[in-house]
Amino acid sequence: MGGDTQAIGPDLSEGIEAGSLSDGQSIEGHVGKEAVLLARKGEEFFAIGAKCTHYGGPLGEGLVVGDTVRCPWHHACFSLRTGEALRAPALNPVDRWNVERRGTKVHVTGRAPPTPARKRPSAKPQRVVIVGGGAAGNAAAEMLRQEGFDGSVTLLSADTSVPYDRPNLSKDYLAGNAPEEWIPLRSPEFYAERGIELRLGTRVAAIAPARHEVTLEGGGTLPYDTLLLATGASPVKPSNPGADLPHVFTLRTLADSRAIIARVRQGGRALVIGASFIGLEVAASLRARGMEVHVVAPDAIPMERVLGPELGRFIRKLHEEHGVVFHLGRTVQSIDATEAILSDGTKVQAELVVAGIGVRPVVDLAQAAGLEVDNGVLVDAHLRSSAPDIFVAGDAARWQDARTGERIRVEHWVVAERQGQSVARTLLGAGEPFDDVPFFWSAHYDLAINYVGHATKWDETRIDGTPEARDCRVQLVSGGKVLAVITLGRDRQSLEAEVALARAS
Ligand SMILES: Cc1cc2nc3c(=O)[nH]c(=O)nc-3n(C[C@H](O)[C@H](O)[C@H](O)COP(=O)(O)OP(=O)(O)OC[C@H]3O[C@@H](n4cnc5c(N)ncnc54)[C@H](O)[C@@H]3O)c2cc1C
Ligand code: FES
Repeated sequence: MGGDTQAIGPDLSEGIEAGSLSDGQSIEGHVGKEAVLLARKGEEFFAIGAKCTHYGGPLGEGLVVGDTVRCPWHHACFSLRTGEALRAPALNPVDRWNVERRGTKVHVTGRAPPTPARKRPSAKPQRVVIVGGGAAGNAAAEMLRQEGFDGSVTLLSADTSVPYDRPNLSKDYLAGNAPEEWIPLRSPEFYAERGIELRLGTRVAAIAPARHEVTLEGGGTLPYDTLLLATGASPVKPSNPGADLPHVFTLRTLADSRAIIARVRQGGRALVIGASFIGLEVAASLRARGMEVHVVAPDAIPMERVLGPELGRFIRKLHEEHGVVFHLGRTVQSIDATEAILSDGTKVQAELVVAGIGVRPVVDLAQAAGLEVDNGVLVDAHLRSSAPDIFVAGDAARWQDARTGERIRVEHWVVAERQGQSVARTLLGAGEPFDDVPFFWSAHYDLAINYVGHATKWDETRIDGTPEARDCRVQLVSGGKVLAVITLGRDRQSLEAEVALARAS
């Protein structure tokens, strides 16, 4: 996170030759000690801060698309005109700088004043209630205010922590490399200043669509004009004997991550159930904390169903090189205080067990309220449910993929945030359907995997480069059509693939 502030590239206040940048190109330079990105679109030049406000990604290595730039690390999108964070995962703008043409040169002359806040008096809805203070709910609340909505926004969260960076819980935070202050997305004051009523530890017990009202657990009701359901997903708990012992965990919340950390003992042994993204991220993080780690999973090759066998084998090898021991093709039969017995009778000693065996969308409220539900709450292209004035975003939503026409539900941070943002814009009359190309990333030790698109089955895998060199692109193709692109060490290609997939829809 953060990124260094060392100035690189040319001094942009001295100017650079306009002809040295072609249409759609950008360059990172500096003004004083500030890193600044200069980009060209046609005959226009723009300058904005060069460090992404998500984790500090270098925008100079990103992709200029029209009058936006995409971050190479996790695909946030910034306006070159205003510096605004148009699309998650970045939530804050970057600075805007003034640009002047002098003869053949372009100079960055100084920081421009921040773009004035928009004002958009609300006709309808006046009262927006958001159920769920995770990725989607938080992003929706923020975007309503960013777009100038002046009605009431109430964000109800069963969680007792302010909305936080959930992906970090299995990565740097669990590994002990991320300080506490990195984890909240915002401070409580942030919400107060923007007039977002954040009610933590508040669980919604029921929705009454006809009365436009939610009932809170413990009593009390809250009326709404528009409701956003952003209840996410909950982890599947193992069902074998011993699964409810106090040293057996799943990981979804900050409290879960803290509880696991409290059980970590250097030199102790952990068993991870499931060779999924979360399972293997947990394995890497516990290795970083000096635990011995065993992984048990029914799969023959870790993550094969998502990444294909080639990358799956590479991931296995990577983890083995870091000391992880796999028990593949097996499941856990029982767990006691000191060991687990696997389906083939193997006994694995473990004082800590973490299960990462998938999640289920949280749809109980929707179901009880009579909304259409089928592996997620069914929504239209604007993420509107079958009930009037109820939208759904994030892990709980199942929508029609613009590229394949299939109904999909994905469990990605960036998708959830962007869906929340999309609903906010729809409520304010933008009327754009949600058709973003799904994107997720995963991190294991020093390896980052970027995935764009969505493929559940494919008939061809096109590999270019080699995983071992951490320099490769894998395309998952069905009927000659590229459905998804996975990259290691090729961030720009990942961005290009996202743009290509968006154009193909
Ligand atoms: C450990 C971990 C690591 C991950 N890493 C990555 C990653 O690297 N990349 C990636 O793309 N994705 C990652 N994900 C997935 C990503 O975090 C989810 O896709 C995303 O959080 C979904 O957002 P959401 O808003 O739908 O749900 P959530 O973020 O889960 O938020 C749901 C919210 O709803 C609240 N809630 C539920 N029911 C109620 C109720 N009845 N009343 C009030 N509130 C309620 C919950 O308390 C919670 O605050 C990770 C997930 C986990 C758990
Ligand atoms: S660092 Fe830019 S999107 Fe994450």
